[in-house]
Amino acid sequence: MTDLNERRPTPSHDVVYPGREEARLVPLAEYTRRPVSEMRALAASFYAEMNRRRTVRDFSTDPVPRELVELAIRTAGTAPSGAHHQPWHFVVIGDPALKERIREAAEREEFETYQRRMSEEWRTALAPIGTHWVKPHLTDAPWIVVLFKQSYGILPDGTKRKNYYVEESVGIAAGMFITALHHMGLVTLTHTPTPTGFLRELLNRGKNETAVLVLPVGFPHAEATVPDFTRKPLEEITTWHTADDAT
Ligand SMILES: Cc1cc2nc3c(=O)[nH]c(=O)nc-3n(C[C@H](O)[C@H](O)[C@H](O)COP(=O)(O)O)c2cc1C
Repeated sequence: MTDLNERRPTPSHDVVYPGREEARLVPLAEYTRRPVSEMRALAASFYAEMNRRRTVRDFSTDPVPRELVELAIRTAGTAPSGAHHQPWHFVVIGDPALKERIREAAEREEFETYQRRMSEEWRTALAPIGTHWVKPHLTDAPWIVVLFKQSYGILPDGTKRKNYYVEESVGIAAGMFITALHHMGLVTLTHTPTPTGFLRELLNRGKNETAVLVLPVGFPHAEATVPDFTRKPLEEITTWHTADDAT
């Protein structure tokens, strides 16, 4: 077996890399290697399950236990992030009065967007989905989750700490949140009200935070409909360079 210490970079004359002995490393205890047959079955059933996920725009008002939303956020919080700074914050709103205020403010912005800010090209792209500025899901869904990105962190002593790859990290966390909701049988709508400044104000968040997504969480309305979409096939979204291709 290769000694991992031998694989650390050799220090160049002007860059000093930290050595493995300086890092806080522990054994990878939680990993179990499975037989390929089992991996294949797991991967196929997970794909089939995820392929059933749809963005839902018509929500039931049925309640959802808070614990379920907490579990989805815990799952999102396991996402990888630049330098492990975890530059995200989830604000969860179940208070009907606050949901109403968010809806009012969001619809005001959306009205402007749909009436004046949208280009013709954007309007055409949205046409098959049938979205509009009226957002009943913001009051129908039992929970609204607003995901904030933190452009920098604030340490306990008040000093700022730079965050790295914030968009990528928060995007991955959002994906894991959506996946967790779907896996437990809940639905959501990935929504990006633009501009989002009103959310920082309404929800009292710091200057280092910007709302990136508003995700209502709940059950679908009994008569919910979704656009009749297909997904790009594997061949269209993949390019492989395998050992066999080598000339
Ligand atoms: C970053 C992002 C922003 C989105 N913004 C909106 C939105 O503002 N309103 C909306 O109705 N759907 C929004 N969607 C949902 C997409 O329209 C939806 O994912 C897409 O049509 C594919 O449908 P599916 O999720 O059911 O596969 C957004 C999705 C993403 C990833």
